[in-house]
Amino acid sequence: MSKKILLEHINVPGIETLEVYRSKGGYSSVEKALKTMTQDAIVEEVKKSGLRGRGGAGFPTGMKWSFLAKPEGVARYLVCNADESEPGTFKDRYLMEKIPHLLIEGMITSSYALGANTSYIYVRGEYFYIIKILEKAIDDAYKAGLLGKNILGTDYSLDLYVQAGAGAYICGEETALLESLEGKRGNPRIKPPFPAIAGLFACPTIVNNVETLAAVPSIVNNGGEWYTGIGIGRSTGTKLISASGHINKPGVYEIEMGITVEDFIYSDEYCGGIKNGKKLKAVVAGGSSVPILPADLILTTANGEKRLMSYESLADGGFASGTMLGSGGFIVMDETTSIVENLYTFARFYHHESCGQCSPCREGTAWMEKILHKIKDGHGTLADVDLLWEIQSKIEGNTICPLGDAAAWPVASAIRHFRNEFEEYVKNPSTINKVKHYHNMHNLATA
Ligand SMILES: Cc1cc2nc3c(=O)[nH]c(=O)nc-3n(C[C@H](O)[C@H](O)[C@H](O)COP(=O)(O)O)c2cc1C
Repeated sequence: MSKKILLEHINVPGIETLEVYRSKGGYSSVEKALKTMTQDAIVEEVKKSGLRGRGGAGFPTGMKWSFLAKPEGVARYLVCNADESEPGTFKDRYLMEKIPHLLIEGMITSSYALGANTSYIYVRGEYFYIIKILEKAIDDAYKAGLLGKNILGTDYSLDLYVQAGAGAYICGEETALLESLEGKRGNPRIKPPFPAIAGLFACPTIVNNVETLAAVPSIVNNGGEWYTGIGIGRSTGTKLISASGHINKPGVYEIEMGITVEDFIYSDEYCGGIKNGKKLKAVVAGGSSVPILPADLILTTANGEKRLMSYESLADGGFASGTMLGSGGFIVMDETTSIVENLYTFARFYHHESCGQCSPCREGTAWMEKILHKIKDGHGTLADVDLLWEIQSKIEGNTICPLGDAAAWPVASAIRHFRNEFEEYVKNPSTINKVKHYHNMHNLATA
């Protein structure tokens, strides 16, 4: 059995309540941090732990925290990014629904470490039932003296608010999120300045993902070095993986970083193999934004080594033969899946979600959707496939925020690894069994 940190108590009846959560040692990190540790000591432990941001980019959390500006007399904020809208990713929802106090504990301990007296959880608007769960948990924490003035009798005070988004993927990008939290349209900001210098209301702000903050209590309780003993190399600790698609056991799994991809897909502890004994065709390993890999490359690197579930191993080979761990949205596709149809679905999403601020993204995502629509319906030409390649290459790196990259990478990787399939759609449109493909997409979406 793989090591569990975040989900250790997930099946304990009543763990969503303060009483049961505390009976399992919950909120001990708040007690330890506020009563026995300085703010800098906590930042140091998080640095030592090697914890990396679980929202997608994998930036070292302790290092980000150490960039926080501390001008005299200016408020600082901690904002939890619970916008979770990346297709294929649903692990933050699971954590907040099943064990909301773990996030609240992480937020109190982290807010103390950063010297924030007001913090926010920005939740994806569609997660309205999660908002109710969080608000109840926050109410209970206030009543127990874990939030509000003079927490646990110390001189540290914190107010924690939940803010609902309104259903825009772009508001998961941290600066768009801050704009939205300020009551404005969620357009990403030009950086620098980064939020750690000028974030919410132009004050120094740290934005962290739900899973990142939920890992902090265990690091404070056990020490940063303990955390480095779990995982592999610079991919320390555990990671939540949202597993979906053509697998026998879809769901959210906590894995110790460093298990093999093969083990994750085929072992009964995790995905339990491909549905109906079919063959694996491709995997999107880290949410819809990351490059798709065919079966041989997701299981084995170009050097013939077994691919591991870690930041480094999944990226091995760069974009020529590798991918990214991203937010851990692991979408498995069997041999019946149409890559062209699948890519069209992703392209439609990115076009819909582009904020429209940067021309390459606004125009490029629209063109990519249109061309893919044409190809998938059997009206494309080989020149369209080349045009698609050309357009994605003009988006990457040319936008204010990485939504443009997120839209371009799936297209680039699908053409790189499955060009023959695009050509088949162009050359032999009559052989395309559309009903079958729509079935596949439906199965994938509802698995
Ligand atoms: C278009 C877009 C959407 C994003 N959505 C999310 C999201 O839903 N949740 C999240 O934590 N990070 C998301 N991110 C990443 C955030 O900008 C940011 O890197 C992250 O919240 C930092 O937290 P971490 O260091 O704990 O990962 C998104 C980025 C982009 C470009």
